[in-house]
Amino acid sequence: MPAKESVVIRPARNLLGSIRVPGDKSISHRYAMLAALAAGRSRFENYSPGADCNSTLGCMRALGCTVEREESGAVVIDGIGPQLHAPNIALDCGNSGSTMRMLSGIVAGQPFTSELIGDESLSRRPMKRVMEPLRHMGAEIAATNDCAPLRISGNRLHGITYRVPVASAQVKTCLLFAGLLADGQTTVEEPTPTRDHGELALRAFGAEVLRSRNTVTIAGGQTLHPLDAFIPGDSSSAAFFLCAAAIFPESNLVIDGVLLNPTRSALLDVLTAMGCRISVLRVEEQNGELVGTISLVPGIMKPVEIAGAQTALLIDELPVLAATAPFGAGLVVRDAGELRVKESDRLTAVTRNLEAMGAQVEQTADGWRIPGGQKLHGAEIEGFGDHRIAMAFAIAALRTEGHTLIHNSECVAISYPSFFADLEKLLEH
Ligand code: S3P
Repeated sequence: MPAKESVVIRPARNLLGSIRVPGDKSISHRYAMLAALAAGRSRFENYSPGADCNSTLGCMRALGCTVEREESGAVVIDGIGPQLHAPNIALDCGNSGSTMRMLSGIVAGQPFTSELIGDESLSRRPMKRVMEPLRHMGAEIAATNDCAPLRISGNRLHGITYRVPVASAQVKTCLLFAGLLADGQTTVEEPTPTRDHGELALRAFGAEVLRSRNTVTIAGGQTLHPLDAFIPGDSSSAAFFLCAAAIFPESNLVIDGVLLNPTRSALLDVLTAMGCRISVLRVEEQNGELVGTISLVPGIMKPVEIAGAQTALLIDELPVLAATAPFGAGLVVRDAGELRVKESDRLTAVTRNLEAMGAQVEQTADGWRIPGGQKLHGAEIEGFGDHRIAMAFAIAALRTEGHTLIHNSECVAISYPSFFADLEKLLEH
C-alpha cells in the first residue's frame, strides 16, 4: 500500500463530458485465475490497474505462471494447465477478498499445501463461507477463527451440490473453480442471483457451464483454452461518476466501453427510478459480457427504496448511492447486512462520514434511511482504508458547502488508481 495521503475536494458547479473507466475488477480476477489453468498464452487488454487485481497476478506468479504487464497496461499470462506449481512463498492476497475466496477454490484442488495471507482488513473478513463447502469437497483447511491466514492442503476433490447461505458471487465462483478441478459434477445454488462473471469466464475459456434458475452446474476435468480479451470498463467504478452526474441538475455524462452485464447494471435501474434519463448509445457482446456506451442526464429526483435481491445486485454501489442520497429525494436501503463485512463496515463508515458532513441519516441493522433535500457542509472524512468509501465521499463533497478533506485517500488505488485525476477532468468549478 502506498504512503498515506490526504486529498482536498472542492465543491463543483457541474459535471460534463465523457470518460472511460479502468477494466472491471471482478472480470480481471477471474480471467487471470483461469488463464493460469489454461495451458498457453492469454492476453488481456484493459486489465484492472488496481492493487487488488495486481495481488491476483502476484499469486498466479507464485503458482508458477509467467505474468507480464505490457506498456499499454495489457497483461500477458503463460498458463500451465490444471496442475499448478507448489508455491514457495505465501500467496499474498493483499486487501482482496475476491483473490482469497476465489483462489481458495483453485488451490484446494492442487496436490500441495498453500498458505493464503492478507492485510489487516482482509484478515478480519469471514472465510468460513468458502472453507465449509471446500471441506465438503475434500480439501483440508486450517484457519484461526475462520479468518486468514488460510492453510489449504489441496486434494483430489469430489463434486458436491451446495446451497450458498448468503448471496455471494465470490463463493459461487470459488466453488465453480473447485468444481472444474474435481471429480464429478458440482452444483451451486444461490439464494438470489449474483454477478455471473465466473460462469461467463469459464465459458469464455471453453468450459461448459449449465445454468438453470438459481443453480449453476459444472463438470470436473474439462480442459480450458487460453483467451485473448478486452476487459470492459468497471461498472462499479463508473457508478461514482453516474451518481455524481445524478446530483447536478445541469450535468451530462457519457461513459464509453463500460460493462453492461445485467447482473451488474442494477444501478442504471435505480438511477432511472430516481428520475435520471439513461440512454444506451451502443452495446455489443464480448466473450459473453455486454459492453457499451451510455449517457446520463438528470431529472426531477424521486425517492427510492432498495431491498432483497436488488440489494445483492447493487452491493458495491450502495456506498456512493448512500453518500449522495441527501442531495436527492431520499433513500431507504434494507437487507444490506453484508456491507458490515466488506473492506470496512460500510454501513457505519457511510453513516459516520455523512454525519461529519452534517447530514441526517439513520443507520439500521441492515441498511440506512436517508432523507433527501439536505444541505451538507465540507468536512474531514475518514476513508477507513476502504477504496469505495473514499471515492463515495469524494463525490458527496462535490455538492457540499466548503471544502472536504479525505484522509487516507491513497486507498482508491485498490480498484481505481487514477480516480481523482479522472474525476477532475469532468468537473466545472
Ligand atoms: C465480487 C463479489 C462481491 C463484491 C466484490 C466483488 C466478485 O462480493 O462485493 O467487490 O467479484 O465476485 P461478495 O461475493 O462477498 O458478495
